Amino acid sequence: MRIGLLTGGGDCPGLNAVIRAVVRRGLADGEHSFIGFRHGWAGVLEDDWIELTYQSTTGILPRGGTILGTSRTNPFAEGRDGLAAIRRTLSRRGVDAMIPIGGEDTLGVAVRLGREGVAAVGVPKTIDNDLLATDQTFGFDTALHTVTDAIDKIHTTAESHHRIMLVEVMGRTAGWIALGAGIAGGAHVILLPEIPFSIGNVCKFVEERQRSGKRFTIIVVAEGIELPGDIEKSFVSERRSMPRQGAKASLVGAAIAAASKREVRVTVLGHIQRGGSPSPFDRILGTRFGVAAVDLIARREFGKMVTLRGPDVEAVPIEEACRGLRLVDPKGGLVHTARSIGISFGDR
Ligand code: F6P
Repeated sequence: MRIGLLTGGGDCPGLNAVIRAVVRRGLADGEHSFIGFRHGWAGVLEDDWIELTYQSTTGILPRGGTILGTSRTNPFAEGRDGLAAIRRTLSRRGVDAMIPIGGEDTLGVAVRLGREGVAAVGVPKTIDNDLLATDQTFGFDTALHTVTDAIDKIHTTAESHHRIMLVEVMGRTAGWIALGAGIAGGAHVILLPEIPFSIGNVCKFVEERQRSGKRFTIIVVAEGIELPGDIEKSFVSERRSMPRQGAKASLVGAAIAAASKREVRVTVLGHIQRGGSPSPFDRILGTRFGVAAVDLIARREFGKMVTLRGPDVEAVPIEEACRGLRLVDPKGGLVHTARSIGISFGDR
């Protein structure tokens, strides 16, 4: 079979591990060849591709990013209909099946194409870890390492200067990065999109810490938090699917400084969370997903996405993953764990 690969949406560590594993697993069968479309679905629309061989995919396992490049191009967004262009490219290049590697937007395109008879098998990725139908996406573990390391570093300077330090992290509307790295990094307050908070509650918690002799506080802020009403009013929303990085943490930081009369600093981790060499976990998961995707194609089980369920890699219909987002459960085990060790979510 001639198999087409692409990586779409925000990049993340581990994408190259998947590409490498797909090619190696496929070559082992002796009957597959590979074409890599550049810059996500844009490469299919524009017939922009490279041949993927053993040689062109060797040495890429520890590399962050994606050797194919990526974009957020959706051939069916904003009234567009890219079906004819996609069909043209796939037939010109003799592609029998596609492996799109992406989040719900990239994989949503595969669902749409599946209805038109285009064979595809999906691989889920995102640092946000918010895809339904998989326990974990690759990229998330590396992001957790990066953010935890940053919180560790913020810790020492916060303590030296007796400051309230806010660290804003990615994750869109899901708080998985904030919650995971907040616990791992020993944060005192974690503000999540899933748990409404108030500045008053955060300041009360800071004062209690002060009274107990702790003169500094680390607050991890998920970029997708809902701003409390009074701050929301002063927030000029921008025309973006998500606010500009740092926008919300800056407003929350300013509000905490005004209310607590204490020194506050805000650090926005931004895109360093998406970069760097993948962790061993993400290399292994990416490799498992790549192999499993070719296994599905070999069995002609199209329209499915590889998924991690407990310890096992399984397959589910791609639609299942695109039905919504997997958010933090405010009553779930991880939030309970955090509360039980004294972490505040600013909600009480
Ligand atoms: O979805 C991954 C992600 O890194 C989000 O956590 C973040 O909100 C977004 O992408 C940033 O996108 P961009 O790189 O387009 O600014």
